[in-house]
Amino acid sequence: MSESGQNGGLLGRGRLAGKRALVTGAGGGIGRAAALAFAREGAAVACCDVRAEAAEATVAALRALGATACSVIADLTDEDSTRDAVETTERLLGGLDTVFNNAGLVHPDDQGAANTPLSAWNATLAVNLTSVFLVCKFAVPALLRAGGGAVVNNASIVALVGSAFPQIAYTAAKGGVVAMTRELAVTHARQGLRFNAICPGPTGTELVRTFLSDEAAWAKRRPYMPQGRLGEPEEIAAAALFLASDEASYLNGVLLPVDGGITAAYVVDDSQEPNAG
Ligand SMILES: NC(=O)c1ccc[n+]([C@@H]2O[C@H](COP(=O)([O-])OP(=O)(O)OC[C@H]3O[C@@H](n4cnc5c(N)ncnc54)[C@H](O)[C@@H]3O)[C@@H](O)[C@H]2O)c1
Repeated sequence: MSESGQNGGLLGRGRLAGKRALVTGAGGGIGRAAALAFAREGAAVACCDVRAEAAEATVAALRALGATACSVIADLTDEDSTRDAVETTERLLGGLDTVFNNAGLVHPDDQGAANTPLSAWNATLAVNLTSVFLVCKFAVPALLRAGGGAVVNNASIVALVGSAFPQIAYTAAKGGVVAMTRELAVTHARQGLRFNAICPGPTGTELVRTFLSDEAAWAKRRPYMPQGRLGEPEEIAAAALFLASDEASYLNGVLLPVDGGITAAYVVDDSQEPNAG
């Protein structure tokens, strides 16, 4: 656990000025991009991850911007660890105003219903769904202590549309995140809390780039992508930032696809190159 100095306040337009944020899964990919985006807009950020070195690397990047940041190392599938993470965030940052529930994983054995081992199912639900419940369990009282706040949950387009490349446990977990987001949004609306979910399409994080560097795997998926490319972690982070900010003060219970039009598509013309005009 570590702390840094003052946020210079000169990094962005101050869309999260004065806010204290917890970003989970902040050690890489979308979480690191979100931590950077939140910090640029003036937030003090607790970077939470199960991988200590990765979380510290994100904290170092935030401090290089002049932002206030701390690392919070936790396994968010564990209740005590998650309670400690939220309490530590509140103590180090002096309160909690916003949470980006982003930690997640894709299990290598997660496939169709008939051939996914129960162990892969349980591990997938623990990280992608139970963690969101546990963080909310402890973050809701903290957000209420701060007088209100906003939670953004990272789901996926697989919670909105079916994929013929199955990952049954991941899909079920993300569907649960979406359903939970709606219930939380309604339950806590009059207490000054907002809950929204983003539903990213395939995004160019390390894992996905490695997987799709296989030409055959890419060729199978590209025909379903109107823009013909992966999203960038920064493009997903921008949507989370918006929903976390007061600009979204009347958005509650929303599921925002951030997918280059994948969930809008009926038929895609895959003969055109991206940006062909
Ligand atoms: N990359 C995509 O194409 C894509 C698409 C849709 C949704 N998402 C979602 O976005 C989120 C981030 O994905 P990413 O692609 O950046 O992946 P990533 O692997 O780069 O980041 C996930 C982070 O979560 C952390 N984490 C895993 N288990 C944890 C635990 N038990 N406790 C605390 N931290 C834990 C990991 O250490 C890692 O740093 C995930 O929820 C993922 O499901 C990703």
